Amino acid sequence: MTDLELMFEAAEARKAAYTPYSHFQVGAALLTAEGRVYRGCNIENAAYTPTNCAERTAIFKAVSEGERHFETIAVVAGKEGEELTFTSPCGVCRQVMMEFCDPETFRILLGTPENFHVFTLKEMLPEGFGPLDLQA
Ligand code: THU
Repeated sequence: MTDLELMFEAAEARKAAYTPYSHFQVGAALLTAEGRVYRGCNIENAAYTPTNCAERTAIFKAVSEGERHFETIAVVAGKEGEELTFTSPCGVCRQVMMEFCDPETFRILLGTPENFHVFTLKEMLPEGFGPLDLQA
């Protein structure tokens, strides 16, 4: 799975976005160490707070299937019916990534399939708090 293919997976995932309130559609595609891909979309809620971001949907789907080792996540986003725009994961999603991913090596692809940038989790969440901080 190339980075470009993973961006296209994220674009496919975005088609399932449930966004009756913001109309801002996000898709994510999470690549496991074994090469499997889990797709996620944002899922909004009339009460707003229960809204789940695309990134967390993908991660929770994967973890609930027994996956724990992740290499890369691709994210694409944009308003319904408009061009894709560069969008960066929210703080909550970065923290969830921190739980399961090595910040030094986990890669985050942001942008569009035509023009995307690659970040590490460490770049997106410097000095992050994670599981290692709770080890004695
Ligand atoms: N959203 C995501 O799914 N991922 C992000 O990286 C940023 C924000 C969603 C949440 C909400 O459904 C909509 O975008 C507007 O905030």
